[in-house]
Amino acid sequence: MHGTGPGGEDKRNPLKILVFIAVIVLLILYILVFGGCSDGQSSGDAGSVNNTKSAELALNPNMDPGVKNGQKIFQTNCVACHGVRGKGDGGAAKALPKKPQDLTLSEIQNLPNSVLSQKIRNGAPSNGMPPWKHFNDKEISDLVAYIKTLK
Ligand code: HEC
Repeated sequence: MHGTGPGGEDKRNPLKILVFIAVIVLLILYILVFGGCSDGQSSGDAGSVNNTKSAELALNPNMDPGVKNGQKIFQTNCVACHGVRGKGDGGAAKALPKKPQDLTLSEIQNLPNSVLSQKIRNGAPSNGMPPWKHFNDKEISDLVAYIKTLK
């Protein structure tokens, strides 16, 4: 009843080879599919308009880490009113008692960082600008650094 081992060994080797071949075929397929995709993207004219738009939202890898962090905070908390480019044209802007400040204007850009920080912290609740007191100093200074890039 025992000792029926030997027959199995002959079957094992072809199986291993088959698995090996399958892995290689899958690898080649993966490379082909991967290559095909990136070709399609770079030649798509219609897509490039959308790409430009989402590039505005994308984090620029060359950015200073603080500015990058500020951009993240801005995109999470501020774009609804101030808009992606800080121009005061966010989706929620129309519902506000006052138009959100266009942050690209020189009257904002020329403010000292400390003044700008205070304005963000205190907000202007009666005009629809919430106070952002829960942000720590680092978050506020990153936000200010990012706002100063919105020219
Ligand atoms: C709910 C809408 C809303 C959100 C969200 C919002 N703001 Fe504002 N913000 C406003 C409005 C409205 C004003 C104009 C207030 C005024 O003129 O008194 C304003 C004004 C400002 C000003 C100019 C303040 C001044 O006194 O000149 C700065 C700077 C600013 N916002 C930064 C931010 C930042 C940074 C965020 C995100 C952390 C943010 N805002 C989020 C609505 C918003």
